[in-house]
Amino acid sequence: MCYNDHMQYDILTIFPHIFDSYLNESILKRAQKNKLIKANIHNFRDFATDKHHTVDDKPYGGGPGMLLKIEPIYKCLKSIKRKKNSKVILLTPKGETFNQAAAKRLSKLDQLILVCGHYEGFDERIRKFVDEQISIGDYVLTGGEIPAMAVIDAVTRLLPGVLGDENSPHDETFSKHPTYIEYPHYTRPENFKGMKVPKVLLSGNHKKIQAWRLKNAKIRKA
Ligand SMILES: C[S@@+](CC[C@H](N)C(=O)[O-])C[C@H]1O[C@@H](n2cnc3c(N)ncnc32)[C@H](O)[C@@H]1O
Repeated sequence: MCYNDHMQYDILTIFPHIFDSYLNESILKRAQKNKLIKANIHNFRDFATDKHHTVDDKPYGGGPGMLLKIEPIYKCLKSIKRKKNSKVILLTPKGETFNQAAAKRLSKLDQLILVCGHYEGFDERIRKFVDEQISIGDYVLTGGEIPAMAVIDAVTRLLPGVLGDENSPHDETFSKHPTYIEYPHYTRPENFKGMKVPKVLLSGNHKKIQAWRLKNAKIRKA
């Protein structure tokens, strides 16, 4: 396996260090080590041409906060070599709400270019240069870095070879259907403060265990 065949993330941000710890732990760390994913962080401040590397400015018409200027983001986007099967995604609370189906769809691509906003957001014209706009939920965060990490994490889990057990993403919540909720899990001890593990899970009878799991998986009400 090599990087050319697998998922490449290009992240545009003015806070590159936010990604340091998350990308270097657990499954994402292992996926990079095994060359199943590659993550490139681009600081679009490096693409600001003035002496102070300014990336933000006051909004026309007045109002609170600062807006990210279009030129540094545009230049940064242009500098990234695009793979054939790639998408530029703007992280924004105004976008389509991210879900497991979107993660699955994006996991089929070869490259995701993720643009993280900050402050009051972006100059509106940046939307012309992106393929999709994604929100991770109906709330407003300080920046697009946590949303970008959420997308990277959810997509990476679905890539072949990333999870140790090939079957594990198939049974997970939302995997079969948007309203599917996975069955409960237990581990040792068998009895914790009087709360016992269902007997069937200790039986070693795989048919019965499967039937119990089917029965105890749920469909979430809309
Ligand atoms: C403080 S927010 C700007 C909010 C903007 N003024 C508005 O009302 O829509 C700064 C940046 O954080 C990111 N962000 C905040 N909440 C988000 C969400 N729910 N999903 C995706 N990105 C989000 C976006 O990149 C956004 O440009």
